[in-house]
Order: sequence, then structure tokens, then C-alpha cells
Amino acid sequence: MTTLRFDERGARRTERMYASPDVVAQREQVLSLLAPQPGERVLDVGSGPGYLVASLAEAVGPGGTVHGLDPSPAMNALAAARTRELPWAHIDEGDAVALPYANGTFDAAVSTQVYEYVTDVAGALGELRRVLRPDGRALILDTDWDSLVWHTADRELHRRVVAAWEEHLVHPRLPRTLAGLLRRAGFHVTGQRVHVIFNPRLTDDSFSAGMMTAIARFVVGRQGLTEADASAWLADLRARGDEGDYLYSVNRYVFQATTSK
Ligand SMILES: C[S@@+](CC[C@H](N)C(=O)[O-])C[C@H]1O[C@@H](n2cnc3c(N)ncnc32)[C@H](O)[C@@H]1O
Repeated sequence: MTTLRFDERGARRTERMYASPDVVAQREQVLSLLAPQPGERVLDVGSGPGYLVASLAEAVGPGGTVHGLDPSPAMNALAAARTRELPWAHIDEGDAVALPYANGTFDAAVSTQVYEYVTDVAGALGELRRVLRPDGRALILDTDWDSLVWHTADRELHRRVVAAWEEHLVHPRLPRTLAGLLRRAGFHVTGQRVHVIFNPRLTDDSFSAGMMTAIARFVVGRQGLTEADASAWLADLRARGDEGDYLYSVNRYVFQATTSK
């Protein structure tokens, strides 16, 4: 099974979709919950196009340090360009399961929409805990794809498309196990909440408009789906938009934890 590739094209697509007002609102919630302080040392695991690294760097200021880590050179190039004016932000190539930092390096760490792509989540959380200081705090956000509600006329075709789309990552239902995984990695879970991405209309800048095209491209050749199936599914969704009965909703779950009680 080949999951989503964060090559140059995939990185640019993610960068576009993550500029949507829906994901901007998500980042605002993440920042307000993590509450980075001036002078802090913060890590963003799987930093992707670097939007959060840039915001974290602005929050900690030049007296602090932010490291964004990602295995994708294409993502890291976007993140480095985005943080060029913030020299206390560093973009490092690496993997969540083997963090290239000494024990206790960071005051806080964040990882949004990343662990669902990582095969060994338990190992990655052990690494996260290792690089946080005593009383360090962590925030993790991931999607549970069972929470997807998307109005289509052809529900059977939609079911097959969603089944094929679930192949884009390793753990399509990670959030329901995350609190347990965090505790077993030695964290104390201090907060759990849901962030809903809700598009009651189909607009060009909505998150789901970007998802539609990404999904239609990804599913062809999976679960027996053809180009014609993907086009029919897209046309179905666009017709919901034109007829005024469009609806997209998906839940992203947020977990906050600390390394000490
Ligand atoms: C959907 S993007 C999210 C990017 C960013 N966290 C955000 O929310 O804007 C997923 C990111 O996870 C990264 N990723 C995938 N596997 C990873 C791993 N094993 N360790 C660290 N990052 C990983 C990908 O390269 C990609 O940049």
C-alpha cells in the first residue's frame, strides 16, 4: 500500500490547502492551547509547510528557539522559505521515531496531522517525551476518518471513494487510541477536545474543496475505482454545491499532555 507522498507536488498541494480559513482557524486554536511563551524552546514534529513553525517563532521571539522537523525535503524547503526572516526558527530533516535532539531539550512540543502517517506511534511518542523537559507540555492533533460526513447522492460510490482514501495514511482512526498511547509513553493527559472542520457550503477557498481534488486524484486505481468513478464522485459533490445542499464535516481531535503531574 502506498500512502500519500509529500513530494514537491504533494507539498505544494498541502501548503495551499493549509492556507484555507478552516486550517488557519485550527492553527489559532492549537496556538492558544499550547500557549508558547517568549523565550521558550518549542518543537513541531512533522512541520510540513512551516505555517505553525513561523507562528511559534513569532510567539517565542528571538530569545527563544523553534525547531520544525520533517522527513520531506520538499516540505522543508517550503518551511525554510516561510521562516527565513525568523533566524531562531530551524528546519531539520528527520523522523518522528528518531528525534535528533538531546533529552529534555524542549519546553513544549506540537504535532498536527502527523502521527496518523507514522507506523510506530508508540515509539514516536516515547521520543517526544524523551526530548521534553520535566513539566514539558505536548499537543497532538489528528483526524478520525470515521467522523467524516459528506453529502453525496451516490452513497455507494462515496463509500468506495472513502475506503480508497483511507489508504493515504497508516492510521485512519488514530485519535481514539491516542490518550492511551500517551499514557503508556509516560505522559499525563491534561486535555482532550475536538476541532471540527465544517463546510456547509462549497466555496473555492474551503478546506473540502481542496480535499475533493486531492482525493479524486489519489483514489484512481484503488478499490477498483476508475478515472470515470472519480469524475462522477466529483460531479456529484459539485452538484450538491450548485443545488445548495452541500455539507462537509470532519473531526480532528486535540490531546494535551505534560511530562510530569
Ligand atoms: C498533513 S502534513 C501536516 C503538516 C503540518 N504538521 C501541519 O499541520 O501543517 C503531514 C506531514 O507529516 C510528515 N511526516 C510523515 N511521516 C513522518 C514521520 N515519520 N516523521 C515526521 N514527520 C512525518 C509529512 O512529511 C508531512 O509534512
